[in-house]
Amino acid sequence: MASITIRNLDEATKQLLRERAAHNGRSMEEEVRHLLRDSTQAPVSFPAEPAAASGSPEIFDPLELDGKRILLIITGGIAAYKCLDLIRRLRERGASVRPVMTEGARAFITPLVVGALANDKVFLELFSREDEQDVGHIRLARECDLVLVAPATADFIAKMALGLANDLASTIVLASNRPLLVAPAMNPIMWAAPALQRNMQQLRADGVHVIGPMRGEMAESGEAGTGRMAEPLDIVAAVRGLLAGTPGTIKGPLAGKRAIVTSGPTHEPIDPVRYIANRSSGKQGHAIAAALAALGAQVTLVSGPVTIADPAGVTTLHVETAREMLDAVEQLLPTDIAVMVAAVADWRASGAAGEKIKKKPGKAPPPLQLTENPDILKTVGHHAKRPALVVGFAAETQNLIDNARGKLQRKGADWIVANDVSPAKGVMGGDRNHVRIVSRSGVEDWPEMDKTSVAARLAQKIADRFETTEV
Ligand SMILES: Cc1cc2nc3c(=O)[nH]c(=O)nc-3n(C[C@H](O)[C@H](O)[C@H](O)COP(=O)(O)O)c2cc1C
Repeated sequence: MASITIRNLDEATKQLLRERAAHNGRSMEEEVRHLLRDSTQAPVSFPAEPAAASGSPEIFDPLELDGKRILLIITGGIAAYKCLDLIRRLRERGASVRPVMTEGARAFITPLVVGALANDKVFLELFSREDEQDVGHIRLARECDLVLVAPATADFIAKMALGLANDLASTIVLASNRPLLVAPAMNPIMWAAPALQRNMQQLRADGVHVIGPMRGEMAESGEAGTGRMAEPLDIVAAVRGLLAGTPGTIKGPLAGKRAIVTSGPTHEPIDPVRYIANRSSGKQGHAIAAALAALGAQVTLVSGPVTIADPAGVTTLHVETAREMLDAVEQLLPTDIAVMVAAVADWRASGAAGEKIKKKPGKAPPPLQLTENPDILKTVGHHAKRPALVVGFAAETQNLIDNARGKLQRKGADWIVANDVSPAKGVMGGDRNHVRIVSRSGVEDWPEMDKTSVAARLAQKIADRFETTEV
């Protein structure tokens, strides 16, 4: 049988594969598998850029960050190239981006390209006669609504944790009283290093917001693990969420409302090392949590095991099993809004083994007995402390609308967001979604769009509902 070694591909192909895999949130090996599978159905095309950056139809509000001033500090990591797309994403939503680059960052990308994309001067030096005539570093630290460090190197994180101020970027961070968001990016072994983790703990304790890093393939060396910078669109969502939660910035239509969102799969143990799970990535649920926060809601996200970052501006509780998820949700009630996006396992193994089940030579495999899990949506929909608005998700592979209508009735939900998760649609784990909103008044068929846009539109629909009716 033929085999492909990714290491042996030429550099250009590897780069295309890396970008494609990063865009789709897959490892390079998984991406190859998808390409091979897809090639039996349709011709393969390698996009020259990640699809999201190549002009694919994407719905967003060009005014969602209107007038917001982002001070972007770029530090010297290999992910610096991604901040070029980030600048574009922020600016197309109405934000202005003022870039500051460390000396390290300039080894990876040039101030010329950063300045051209930001359409602003790039600030580089602390001891600049020209900029410091009016104490420029203090001005830069204050003349913004948010300071964003992306990518944030291990070195810069250490400086922040210690409060060092020995270059322009670190001095600005120390002199700023604005919300601070960092997007770490580094090799997985660096990320796991005790010193780095100590520094991260310090940053969190100091009130710094953190997005990522993500699991996946590293841009260098074909290594995989946790350390990849969060994707630009996720950083944009985090910026939006943080600005919405900052008094005096965006006063959202959901200000004062409390929301629970569940997201991701659940893992149901069979024994200490094996579990039953599903392919949910948490991308849609996490995006909805961020979108509700961006409109001013106070959001708690109850997340099953996922490999994506906690959204900024949202309180995230991590659980494993359906029963843990239900406990967490019930403890949060009452709230105004519940959006149940998690793909909760319908069944768990009856009596998970306390020790690893051993394979016995010559013996038949052990039978797997299943027990039904609690139905979280139904429990919330009929709860004595039922939220005013309960939204469920229906992931179906057939009879989408009929099944969603049935679910609406049985579960006591107000709306069901129905999506077709047949493998050919690539919804589970993918970045795009085509949803129908099923309610007692009918069915809305939304066009296919990326999950961030679905989230933004759903959050707006929720806000409209609260504006027009006392639900
Ligand atoms: C090719 C190359 C790639 C690097 N990538 C990273 C990285 O992704 N993350 C990181 O924390 N450091 C990385 N480093 C190390 C930093 O560049 C180094 O710690 C530098 O001092 C950071 O400076 P700064 O934090 O002031 O920008 C890399 C170094 C090299 C030579």
